[in-house]
Amino acid sequence: MTKSLPPLVICLGNVVADHVFRVDEVPQPPAKARARGYKLTVGGMAANAAIAVKRLGGRSAFWGRVGDDSNATLLTEQLGVEGIDLTGMHAVAGARSPVSAVLVDRYGERAIMGFRGEGLGTDPSWLPLGMLREARGFLCDPRWPEGAHVALEAAEKLDIPTVLDGERSETRLLLDLVPRVRYAIFSAPGLNNFAPGQRPAEALRRAVSEGVTRMAAVTRGEKSTLWLRRGETRPREMMAFRIEPRDTTGAGDVFHGAFALGMAEGMDEEAALRFGSAAGALRARDGATAHRAETDGFIADRAEG
Ligand SMILES: Nc1ncnc2c1ncn2[C@@H]1O[C@H](COP(=O)(O)OP(=O)(O)O)[C@@H](O)[C@H]1O
Ligand SMILES: [Mg+2]
Repeated sequence: MTKSLPPLVICLGNVVADHVFRVDEVPQPPAKARARGYKLTVGGMAANAAIAVKRLGGRSAFWGRVGDDSNATLLTEQLGVEGIDLTGMHAVAGARSPVSAVLVDRYGERAIMGFRGEGLGTDPSWLPLGMLREARGFLCDPRWPEGAHVALEAAEKLDIPTVLDGERSETRLLLDLVPRVRYAIFSAPGLNNFAPGQRPAEALRRAVSEGVTRMAAVTRGEKSTLWLRRGETRPREMMAFRIEPRDTTGAGDVFHGAFALGMAEGMDEEAALRFGSAAGALRARDGATAHRAETDGFIADRAEG
């Protein structure tokens, strides 16, 4: 028997040039403050998830749009160095790439100012949908719904587990995307955008009530993740791993990438959520995405208690 390739997970959505400033405190305006550190790095939910998939041992592809500016060159290079397939990453002529200013304070908490780019267009017709035949997992965020629609439809026909990063977004976009994915995993603000004013349990019940959605969850940072399968009435709670956070930027993105890879590898939902929690916790602890051996080791250590 030949050794099979690691599973391919395709991540569609946002990629952002993150300008990250380390500060003592996020200043209140009007203000001018000095940063202790600075880095320019890849951000964006789907792009961070794609990096996580690769570092955690999967094969990974990123599908999305950038402009034709210097930020696009940097993002393409950095994703390429990670070993991510960029067949479905499109540089749009005359467009500007998304960028963010990220302020990280001494508690590892962050304030983000995001510019979503300009002239990126919405047309998904160039997406290499045929690649889905090889894929074992698909993940998207809410930043390019037109792309997500065509890819989710194709993925569902191929019986591929699909995951939504239900991050902060317009309510109508989340209402539209959630029923199209099997696993809808929200951030706390994202769940509130999906079902404004509802309690988490109610909002999760609503998320699994329609379409192909089998499970909905909400990540709640250092606290826990609540998750609910279709047909169940009360969400279960998975406690977060205790760590000393250095930079929580991207923890949720990494959580989602790890969860999608776990499902692609055939883990059950609970195991994939634990894998996601561990990868998210390590990202928050170190400010960088961990590799597989470290993540598995972390889970094993903590299981021993
Ligand atoms: N301070 C932390 N301690 C432990 N785990 C964390 C911490 N911050 C994030 N995580 C892990 O990452 C996941 C996603 O983080 P969260 O803050 O909920 O999402 P987002 O980064 O999208 O806002 C959490 O569910 C948890 O598993
Ligand atoms: Mg998030």
